[in-house]
Amino acid sequence: MKNHIKHFLILGSVIMLASCGKKDKNSPGTEFMPDMYYSEAYKPYELNPLFDDSLQARPPVEGTVSQGAFPNSPISIDVLKYPYPETPEGYEAAGKELKNPLPSDSSNLADGKEIYGKFCVNCHGDVGDGNGSIVANGKFPSPNTYWSKVGLTQGKMFHTLTYGKGLMGSHASQLTKTERWKVVHYVQSLIDAKTKGTTAAASDTSKTASAKTTKKI
Ligand code: HEC
Repeated sequence: MKNHIKHFLILGSVIMLASCGKKDKNSPGTEFMPDMYYSEAYKPYELNPLFDDSLQARPPVEGTVSQGAFPNSPISIDVLKYPYPETPEGYEAAGKELKNPLPSDSSNLADGKEIYGKFCVNCHGDVGDGNGSIVANGKFPSPNTYWSKVGLTQGKMFHTLTYGKGLMGSHASQLTKTERWKVVHYVQSLIDAKTKGTTAAASDTSKTASAKTTKKI
């Protein structure tokens, strides 16, 4: 038994001494499984013999669209960064320049209405008169009617939904930009229903669907 320990110690010290003997200080010494240390992948600007032009950094494939190429296209809405800052100037600029990129068609209005019923109705009320359930039971001050807000453009609505305003919190974490634009269409339809007398957005879909199937929303 004693002999075993002796042999073991001698072997151990030989291995240790062997590993100290390298002259190059930067050398990592003996490497086990070196494949894991050295990536096989080409670096972006390395020459690559597999391609005729030897360029490793390949041009984008034909038909590639750069991020933000079509700022008003519905598909890029959620990809683009919102460019207006959370300042009064940002609010005014968004109000002037920002247009709803989605069409105000029946499908977007229906989606907007669903979102409105989940996220907005408790404060703003069914028809947008600012008399939602938590206002009616005295727990929250009325946000006032949408149509009483002078110069309220869709850009301003979107800005408010993104950052919040006064007592209304930001909805950016609950709603994607596409969803925000849809609900903006719906709010606009509530305003139009009040100010222009359009029947665009009745608050109860089941009733509208059965009673006024011919009405286009
Ligand atoms: C907790 C209550 C509450 C909820 C929920 C809420 N709002 Fe508001 N909202 C307010 C209040 C209060 C204001 C008035 C803010 C101000 O001008 O100070 C307001 C203002 C607005 C305005 C006018 C913005 C402007 O620029 O003057 C719009 C449009 C609006 N809300 C839409 C919505 C939509 C759409 C939703 C749902 C996605 C929603 N709100 C959810 C309370 C709420």
